[in-house]
Parts: sequence; C-alpha cells; structure tokens
Amino acid sequence: MFFIKVFSNNTKYQWIIFLSLSCILSGVVSQQPSLFDAVTGLLRDTNNLYLGEPPDAEELFSEYDFVIIGAGTAGCVLSNRLTEVEDFKVLLIEAGGSEQLFMDIPVMATMLQFTDANWDYRTEPQRAGCMGMRDGRCSWPRGRVVGGSSVLHSMMHTRGNRKDYDRWAANGNPGWDYASILKYFKKSENIQIPELRKDKVYHSTKGEMTLQYPSWRTRLSDAFLQAGVETGGRIVDYNGEKQIGYSIIQFTMNNGTRMSASRAFLHPIKYRKNFHVAKNAMVTRILIDPWTKRAYGVEFRKGGRRYIVKASREIILSAGAINSPQILMISGIGPKQHLTEMNITTVVDLPVGYNLQDHWALGGLTFVINTTDSIRSERVATFSNILEYFSHHTGPLSAPSGTEAIAFIDTNNPNDLDGYPDLELLFVAGSLVSQPSYKQAFAIDDRIYDKVYGPIQDRDTWMVFPMLLLPESKGRIMLKNKNPYTKPLIYANYFSDGGHDQKVILHGIRKIIQLSKTKAFQKFGSRLHDIPLPNCAHHKFNSDSYWYCAMKTITNTIYHHCCTAKMGPREDPGAVVDARLKVYGIKGLRVVDASIMPHVPAAHTNAPTLMIAEKAADMIKEDWGIRIKPL
Ligand SMILES: Cc1cc2nc3c(=O)[nH]c(=O)nc-3n(C[C@H](O)[C@H](O)[C@H](O)COP(=O)(O)OP(=O)(O)OC[C@H]3O[C@@H](n4cnc5c(N)ncnc54)[C@H](O)[C@@H]3O)c2cc1C
Ligand SMILES: *[C@@H]1O[C@H](CO)[C@@H](O)[C@H](O)[C@H]1NC(C)=O
Ligand SMILES: *[C@@H]1O[C@H](CO)[C@@H](O)[C@H](O)[C@H]1NC(C)=O
Ligand SMILES: *[C@@H]1O[C@H](CO)[C@@H](O)[C@H](O)[C@H]1NC(C)=O
Repeated sequence: MFFIKVFSNNTKYQWIIFLSLSCILSGVVSQQPSLFDAVTGLLRDTNNLYLGEPPDAEELFSEYDFVIIGAGTAGCVLSNRLTEVEDFKVLLIEAGGSEQLFMDIPVMATMLQFTDANWDYRTEPQRAGCMGMRDGRCSWPRGRVVGGSSVLHSMMHTRGNRKDYDRWAANGNPGWDYASILKYFKKSENIQIPELRKDKVYHSTKGEMTLQYPSWRTRLSDAFLQAGVETGGRIVDYNGEKQIGYSIIQFTMNNGTRMSASRAFLHPIKYRKNFHVAKNAMVTRILIDPWTKRAYGVEFRKGGRRYIVKASREIILSAGAINSPQILMISGIGPKQHLTEMNITTVVDLPVGYNLQDHWALGGLTFVINTTDSIRSERVATFSNILEYFSHHTGPLSAPSGTEAIAFIDTNNPNDLDGYPDLELLFVAGSLVSQPSYKQAFAIDDRIYDKVYGPIQDRDTWMVFPMLLLPESKGRIMLKNKNPYTKPLIYANYFSDGGHDQKVILHGIRKIIQLSKTKAFQKFGSRLHDIPLPNCAHHKFNSDSYWYCAMKTITNTIYHHCCTAKMGPREDPGAVVDARLKVYGIKGLRVVDASIMPHVPAAHTNAPTLMIAEKAADMIKEDWGIRIKPL
C-alpha cells in the first residue's frame, strides 16, 4: 500500500525505496540485525513524513473563507486551529515545497541552509557589524519550505520572560500580558521531559509540539552547567516560573527527530475536507479594493501560471519578518515616500519594515581542549552512528548542531533569580572548526577564517555565543523595487545604538572566560583560543577594545528576525497592526507571525511565534462569532 502510494505520487523518492529495499535484502542475507533495523527505521521515517504531510491541492476553489500566506511556524498553527471550524474553508499558500526526510535529522540543521529550502538573504553592508563576513554582509537564512523557518531552526524552545509580555501589554496591547498568554504557550505544548511534566502551572502534556532534552549530548554540556554553579549560578527550568540560570536546552523534537511546525500542526489535519495547501506557490500581491480598502484576494504564481484566489472573510499574512513587510509594501501598504520611490501606489501609509530587531552575538569565541569530547563531523558521520540513528533515533545524529546548553543572565542584577535577562550564553560542544560547513553558513571571509581558525582546524573545541537579548539597535527592511521576486534590502544596523548593545556582549565574553577557568572546564584543559582577528590585531588581545572590534567583525545572528509590522495602539506612530493583529486602515487583513512583536522577547523566537498564532486563532474565531472552548 505504502509502496504503491509513494511510487505513484512521489517519483522523486523511488531511489530511496530502491536503495532501502536493496539494503533490507543485503541485511537479511548478511544477518546483520542493526542494518536491518536501520533500514526498517528509515522506511518507517520515510513513510511517516511523506505520507503525513498534506498534499499539494490538485484543484483550488476560486474563493475561501480564509487565505493564509506562508506555511511557517505561525501559518501551520493557524491552519490547524481555523480548520477546526467546519464552516471555515481555508487555503494555505507556501512558496516552498515539501519537507524532506534529511531535514528532520537534528544534526543536519545547519546544512539545510545550502538547500532550496532557504530564502538565502544577506544583510546590506553596514558601518559597524558583519565586517569579517564576505563583502561585509551577514547571512540571514529563512525557511522556504512547508514548515517555514521551523524546518531550518535549531529547535531550541524558549518562551522568554514574563516581563517581555507585560511590557507588550503596558505599551498599549491589551490581552498580551503574561498572565493572559501563558495558556497559549501551554496549549501547543507536549512536554516529554519527565521532571517537568509534573509542573502543571507552567507546562502541558496535551499539545501538539513535543519537547525533549536531547538523548545524546557531550560531557562538555555538564561542564557548562557545573561551571555555572561554581560561579554562583543555579540550574533552572527556563520555561518555568523564573528564567535566570543554567539548563540543558529543551528542544522541539519527537523521538530524536525534528518536530517542525508542519509535523506538529499540519500532519494531523491532512484529511480535513475544508483545508487546502498550495505548495511551490509564490504570493506576488494582496489585492485590495482602493475605495473600500478591503483586502479581498491574493495573487500568486505556481508552475508558471498566475492565479487569483478570493477570501470572503480574511487574508492572514504569515510570511515571516522579512517577507511579510515585503508583501505588504508591494501591495501598497507601507511608508508612503518609500512606496512612491518604488513606483507603488500607496493604499495606506504605515511604518512597515521599520523596527527590525534580532538577536546577535560574537561568533567564534573558541576554547581548545585536550580531550576528544567535542563534536567533530568526522566522528559524527560514521556508519555505526548512521545505523544507530535510523534504528533508534539516538546517538550523535539526534543532537541538534552541537548546541546543548543555555544560560540566561540579567547583567544589571546578576543576583536576582527573578531578573529580566538581557544576556544569553549559548553553549556549543564544538566551534567553527568542527564542521566544514560552518564557515560557509556564516559567510566568514576566507582570509580571516584561514588565519585565525586554520591552525586549530583539527582540534577539539567548544564555543559559547554571548547573545544580546534586549537590543537597542533597530534595523529596517526596504524594497529594492516592486518586483516580488527581487530580494528586499535588509539593513540590520547592528551596534547602531549608543553603545548599550556592545557592553552587554562584552559582559557575556567576560563571563564565558570566567566559566572556562572553573574546575569543571579545566578538567578538559580548556584554553581560550588567542590568535587575534587580523583586523583587530592593533588592539591588545583580550582588552575591551579588542572584543568590541571582534564582535563587529564576526557578528553572528541567532536568526530571531522580528518586529517589522509592529503591534501597537493607534496613537503609536510605529504601529502597523492593532492588538487583534488587524492592519490599520485595511479591512479583512491581519498579520500573524514574528513581524508583529513590538520588541524581541528574551527568547528564541519560535515558541513566541507559536504562542502568537495560538492567540490569533482564538481572536479570529471570536471575531467571527465562534465560541472558544476554555483551555
Ligand atoms: C537557521 C535558523 C535557526 C533558528 N533557530 C531557532 C531556534 O533554535 N529556536 C527558536 O525558537 N527559533 C529559531 N529560529 C527562529 C524561528 O525559526 C523563527 O522565529 C520562526 O520560525 C518564525 O516563524 P514565522 O511564522 O514568523 O516565519 P517562518 O517560519 O519563516 O514562515 C514564513 C513562511 O512564509 C513563506 N513565504 C514567505 N514569502 C512568501 C510568499 N511570497 N509566498 C508564499 N509563501 C511565502 C516562507 O516560505 C515560509 O514558509 C531560527 C531561524 C533560523 C532561520
Ligand atoms: C520608477 O519608474 C521610473 C519611470 O518609469 C523609473 O525610471 C524608475 O527606475 C522606477 N523606479 C524603480 C525603483 O523601479
Ligand atoms: C523512536 O524511533 C525508533 C526508530 O524509528 C523506533 O524504533 C522507536 O519505536 C520509536 N520510539 C517511539 C517511542 O516512538
Ligand atoms: C588536560 O589538561 C588538564 C589541565 O591542564 C590536565 O589535568 C589533564 O591531565 C589533561 N588531560 C590530557 C588527556 O592531557
């Protein structure tokens, strides 16, 4: 049954089936049970993924109740929740294609940036930041695939701090305070970490998104936690009551594989009759009646043809923090002067594309060790590890890119356990030298890389990203022209504030060096790698000015792009949507994704985006008179 379906629907995967069958046969013949287990495991995984994802709809209706643009983190949640209402016919439009099996192997995460599933953006060159990247431009990957950036992301699940959401509410967004939204964080969650399942106030086991600790990790992650405790920190559930402290990362994984938003939210609704997905379908414009200012339809291109689909109730834009502002502006919603320069007629004048925020860090802060405990690609990609992964979903392939542990620090009140963290330390059991693809992924200039990291190319290492959580610098997304296929211009404007941002990162560097000197890390002979970056070599190594130069050279985004269609009250000159996420001045159009965040929270942004979409789904139902089941 399964074979017939795959053969007929999915000719691209015939070779997998063919190889698998040959392996089964050779496994049976050679009586190797682990090979046999691995092949049956691979077939089961193939089956689950390719038959689980909703198919590309063969025929589309000319009109739906709701049209959702973008099958990313937010779009998948919304599709699931809105199609619970049988009267709602929903079309989900996604520019990318289906999720592939290799994308869900946790260790592959960074490699996905080299595939078609990445929009592959680069920032514009700027004065301070990304100076050591090729052409002075940082790489900003984004997911273009069913599941969106939740397919490319490193699967770290962090909600942020109570004070983040209380601040959103205090800035004029009723209903977004932490007490009101905690239930939405819990709604999607299925926590599988035994010691956290008991905490019913902060966790849930009933949602679609499974959370796990990795089943395989290095001893170095324990050293990181111990080093934290040695220097006065404590171990914490950072998604619980208080956030400050050290922890192993909670990952969005299920049985050692990636749990993308599509696997969690689209697979279960594959058979809903009121749901269609259009894949490889690029939205080129939202159609708005210029007189009534009502958004009534969406124009998109698929397979060389142009389509128009109407929405009788609403259009929901969930194309992410770079593409949502692009689509709004192309459709005439944006800053009037900029649109006029782009030869676009303005329908409503709104500050779309401003307020761009992100989390970034000094990349490449490396410590060399004298044991073989770190992750190195040649030790990971072995035949026995591959067999282990497909047999049991365990072993090094089930470990997401070497990111293992995390710490949240309030640099202003380091001893306040209930503080508001402005600094995160993200521990990696390896560094730029542990996988050949890293240099490429971060787009680091070859000359800098060879000079600084060439000499330790074969060594065992660990690294920590000192990551700024509450940046004061803000960037902007602008159009280059009105062609939807032209990449928008990204002005990250890192370090464009008065100096606050660089001080927080410096604080993090000092803290990491302190951690490296603890007993826990000295067991591994940890030593700060001290070949200076060539363009910073005129500063004394390890001086404050050296590190300021270093962070502006190897500026590492943590990919939390957001805030470009800001939620705020009408009197807020920066607001694009109201607290119900409706675009000001337009009827029938909401933005629901990471763009609406007024400030980036002290969190990796996938969990907050899931929460935003959960809350939006309830607000949409309420606005159309559907009774909401209490949680
Ligand atoms: C490399 C990487 C690592 C990350 N790591 C983490 C992490 O470990 N933890 C964490 O919490 N967060 C992480 N993030 C961030 C997190 O993935 C995002 O914040 C989150 O997925 C944003 O969801 P979204 O719905 O706003 O946008 P997306 O998930 O990006 O969804 C937007 C969707 O819209 C589609 N789309 C865009 N334009 C069009 C168009 N014109 N027509 C049709 N479809 C369109 C896109 O293809 C995409 O599928 C990471 C991100 C990246 C890129
Ligand atoms: C706008 O139109 C003018 C006149 O056709 C053209 O010269 C200009 O290049 C256009 N600008 C952009 C950004 O496309
Ligand atoms: C996890 O995956 C492995 C490999 O496919 C399988 O053998 C095992 O039964 C799965 N475990 C659960 C709990 O689903
Ligand atoms: C590593 O270095 C530490 C500290 O210098 C030392 O105690 C330990 O014996 C070394 N281990 C190896 C394997 O060299």
